[in-house]
Amino acid sequence: MTKSYIDLDKELIWHPYTQEKLEQVPLLINKAEGSYLYTKDGRKIFDAISSWWVNLHGHCNPYIQTKIKEQMNHFEQILLAGHTHEKAIELAQKLLSKLPDNYKKVFYSDNGSTAVETALKMAFQYFYNQGKPKKRVVAFKKGYHGETFGAMSVSGLNAQKTPFLSQLFQAEFIQPPLKEHPETFGKSFADLEKVLEDHDDIAAFIYEPVIQGAGGMLVHDPSELNKLIKLCKEKGILCIADEVMTGFGRTGKLFASEHMEEKPHIICLAKGLTGGTLPLAATVCTQDLYDAFLSEDKNKALLHGHSYTGNALGTASALANLELFEKPETINQIENLQSLNQEFKDTIQGSSELSRNVYEVRTQGTIAAVELKTEETSGYFNKISKKISDVFLTQDILVRPLGNVLYFVPPYSSTKEEMKATFETAYNFLKTL
Ligand SMILES: Cc1ncc(COP(=O)(O)O)c(C=O)c1O
Repeated sequence: MTKSYIDLDKELIWHPYTQEKLEQVPLLINKAEGSYLYTKDGRKIFDAISSWWVNLHGHCNPYIQTKIKEQMNHFEQILLAGHTHEKAIELAQKLLSKLPDNYKKVFYSDNGSTAVETALKMAFQYFYNQGKPKKRVVAFKKGYHGETFGAMSVSGLNAQKTPFLSQLFQAEFIQPPLKEHPETFGKSFADLEKVLEDHDDIAAFIYEPVIQGAGGMLVHDPSELNKLIKLCKEKGILCIADEVMTGFGRTGKLFASEHMEEKPHIICLAKGLTGGTLPLAATVCTQDLYDAFLSEDKNKALLHGHSYTGNALGTASALANLELFEKPETINQIENLQSLNQEFKDTIQGSSELSRNVYEVRTQGTIAAVELKTEETSGYFNKISKKISDVFLTQDILVRPLGNVLYFVPPYSSTKEEMKATFETAYNFLKTL
């Protein structure tokens, strides 16, 4: 008898973020379309987290597919050192046209961690090239920036990095200015002032603008974040906005950095860049930063790159993704999700039955999160996570709580009815707790 795919999966695949000894059998997906995943055994599951926050316009978006096929007819991949291609150029042009004026250069890579890694190298080498090396980075407590060693060093989530602590470089973690907790504003600013007073070797301040995703969907007060960016800029520190999750409409604006007046020197983009079709990332920077790498001396170049840097299919799909944002339907959908989220928040906050076990409801643009009160400590390993995902899965809704934080990051193709049904499941769950 031949083995089933699930048996073969168990035998051969090491899944990400998974304790393989404890995990349940994975769902075997054989089709995805619009806001749904279809399992091989006939289930249709609403993807309430856009498959790890990447899928923006629904799965298998026909426009993006057409553009990938068109590019496929020309070529799929070339190296980007010493060579270039039209889609990489057109995408850079379109991206820069949608960002504020001060961004002039686009460096391509292939995922969020590499976008961050590139940004960190740009920042460190910017100072190194000028003969005044700096080695430290400021970041937020509970911030998350990816899985590579540089990205882990500046992430404030311990669960992920504890086994590697001795291999990481130095970062200083400050309190984020949490919108729902004005008492954190002063602490946040004071933390930054103290770090700046104690260290004169800070190269960069990295932050997830307006909402910290993996840390539990923690929403910032934009004007307080603005003050932090301003102070760093006054001190000559490079600011890096990690928009890997927040880019492309997630926070209600095309880029989350638009919520603040002060703009960073570098922006990292990935996840939704291709609308969730192909792995591609971009690290975008200012002319001044780029100029620090220009020299007769080859050692001053950014000697960094990846095999798939500027992949032709990836750039073609990202271009198509950006074109979709020029359609009023996309903007309307983002606005609809935003107002549905507000209703969701009001409903929970307005009902003692629903809010009994809720510590906080947070929303930002198309993202909604409920932090539950449980007897266990709040955090990534809180066991309620599994209970929540099981309950939602019985209703054919895919969620993947961050410990005791249930959140929704739906594709923009999601309808009012689908969101209402999802929220209804949340209300019923909250009532039964
Ligand atoms: C803000 C942020 N930065 C970086 C990353 C890492 O991206 P990737 O998983 O594509 O490496 C993530 C992933 O969730 C993220 O949310």
